[in-house]
Amino acid sequence: MQVTVFSTKPYDRLFLDRSASQGLDPQYCESRLSLETVTLAEGSGAICAFVNDNLSEPVLERLAGYGVRLVALRSAGFNHVDLVAADRLGLRIARVPAYSPHAVAEHTIAIILALNRKIHRAYNRVREGNFALDGLLGFDLNGKTMGIIGTGKIGTVLARIAAGFGCRLLGHDLKPNPDCEALGMTYVDREEIFRRSDILSLNCPRTPDTHHLIRKDTLPLLKPGVMLINTSRGAVIDAHAAIAGLKDGTIGSLGLDVYEEEADLFFEDLSNTVLRDDVFARLLTFPNVLITGHQAFFTREALEAIAETTIANIDAFRSTGVPLHAVTMDFLAGRS
Ligand code: NAI
Repeated sequence: MQVTVFSTKPYDRLFLDRSASQGLDPQYCESRLSLETVTLAEGSGAICAFVNDNLSEPVLERLAGYGVRLVALRSAGFNHVDLVAADRLGLRIARVPAYSPHAVAEHTIAIILALNRKIHRAYNRVREGNFALDGLLGFDLNGKTMGIIGTGKIGTVLARIAAGFGCRLLGHDLKPNPDCEALGMTYVDREEIFRRSDILSLNCPRTPDTHHLIRKDTLPLLKPGVMLINTSRGAVIDAHAAIAGLKDGTIGSLGLDVYEEEADLFFEDLSNTVLRDDVFARLLTFPNVLITGHQAFFTREALEAIAETTIANIDAFRSTGVPLHAVTMDFLAGRS
């Protein structure tokens, strides 16, 4: 079966080629999937896509028209797929439900530690022969309250690491997770986790309920000076509100691995071009903001697991017509 693999980077190709099975014919292309590039899928029975590919209704219609029957996502998140349109068009959607929660949780901790101890600033200072410590003051994680919104696979690993640092754990989720409770986590409502967390980490999926969870009218609910960390999906934070919160000190520091408008920026080398996103540019001016470009997943172990599950999804679809990890309409109805 021919599979058009969109948004391919050399590392994707390396790991997918290693896992590829007999009879699979991957057609790698660097382009992101969009209305302009969808034609690359002609002749393929399946496509393989990543987080910033466009899987809206018009694109899905074109794919179905070409005879594509499977969209194999190389991600856990599927908020960028129009599931209703896919269902109507008879397109199967598959995802990689878990690859390495450790990768994302450990990166979240890396951001927290770097931001708190100002490692990003210290690195530059020392290289310039500036050994002054002014402005580099941090706080002990030990004894601080870490709030985790979304205590699924990643949130649980994060909770375990934070417990190791001696943090007090607060959680907020649709339902409590016994593994987190066993670590001493107390589950509270949204308002209380906002009010009590010294460090607030967002680890929930992007859904209508979590869209702009942090916005203008929820900012005043946060503990003043909170360290806010988002490694989930960009739209969980309204970046305009975050800027306002940073300016008035409501947000003490901000760590991001995701950004609402990241599709136009992340995963590409834009160092020779002019940055056109003024909101992103403003975020970069704050000394207490640390941004990485959707790299939390990026470990060897995670790439291996993504490739293996993606191939397993395609193989299962080839032999039974159903991928191993299908995203069904039940997800929309909240039954899964
Ligand atoms: P998961 O499905 O294991 O856990 C998500 C948790 O969020 C579940 O416990 C769920 O009940 C909870 N949740 C859902 N709606 C909620 C709401 N309205 N309020 C509070 N909690 C809610 O997912 P996992 O693997 O832990 O991933 C979490 C998110 O991390 C993904 O949805 C994805 O957006 C993001 N992610 C980011 C990566 C990166 O590289 N930055 C890589 C992988 C995932």
